[in-house]
Amino acid sequence: MRQENNAEAIWVRPTGGACGADVHGVDLAAPMDEAAFKVIADAWSAHLVLRFSGQRLDDDGLIAFSRRFGELDRVPIGTGDLERKDNGVAEHARPWVVVISNVKVGGKAIGGLGSYELAWHTDMSYNPIPPRASLLYALECPAMGGDTGFTNMYRAYETLPEDLKRRIQGLDCIHDASLNSAGERRLGFQAITDVRQTPGAVHPIVRLHPVTRRQCLFLGRRANAYIPGLSLADSEALLDRLWAHAAKPEFAWYQRWRVGDLMLWDNRCAMHRRDSLDETGRRLMHRTQIVGEAVEAA
Ligand code: SIN
Repeated sequence: MRQENNAEAIWVRPTGGACGADVHGVDLAAPMDEAAFKVIADAWSAHLVLRFSGQRLDDDGLIAFSRRFGELDRVPIGTGDLERKDNGVAEHARPWVVVISNVKVGGKAIGGLGSYELAWHTDMSYNPIPPRASLLYALECPAMGGDTGFTNMYRAYETLPEDLKRRIQGLDCIHDASLNSAGERRLGFQAITDVRQTPGAVHPIVRLHPVTRRQCLFLGRRANAYIPGLSLADSEALLDRLWAHAAKPEFAWYQRWRVGDLMLWDNRCAMHRRDSLDETGRRLMHRTQIVGEAVEAA
């Protein structure tokens, strides 16, 4: 039996960047009482992204820790994850665990997103209820490449020019379901020829975080986005301005992965992206996501 986590033994060190903190003194595979969990939940609210290094988790352990944050959300649509029987995920875990990997077995990818660069995005925001959290656990990492960036969308909102803040007040945006963050078309979707017809949920551009009650930008992903009610040209111009601001390096912090790292991010107020990597460097990650709440306009 592993030793139970103790709230007093946990300490949190901010990265010093725009978001993120390391959580020390935790064994995520061991029992954790409410007091210990509260230390983690409070740190998560304060820092948006948490890193737990040196963990040893199997999928059941990843699922058990993930469930502390709420109900598990199903794996993303159109990835083929549920159909892959040879990806190392047990039958009972398959609805909840996404395999993100460039590893191939017998010439076939065992997971999604390959070695590509991934654009800034919010996980599964094409759903009417986007996940509140994602948890990504590193089983294999390449020596170089594949770093994951996180960006602080509170700061992105707070530092917008006043005219832009006024301009986006009350506006919504369509979050595209047809492409993944590597730009690949999901199974079952057609190419988008007119973004006014983009399939996906419509959410407010400025959201109120349900826990912190702070305002943040909620952009989802740039590709195929559209702001209902605006002309195509006005929507494109406004989205370009917002994205140019939100993607500024000063709002971002990057994670360089090591085996045993578990990253937990707040999908409501942080976006993420990934650097590409060399195809010869094996990278294998398992991800869970937590059901969120309807996006509340600020
Ligand atoms: C993701 O978008 O969830 C994957 C990020 C990564 O592969 O680092």
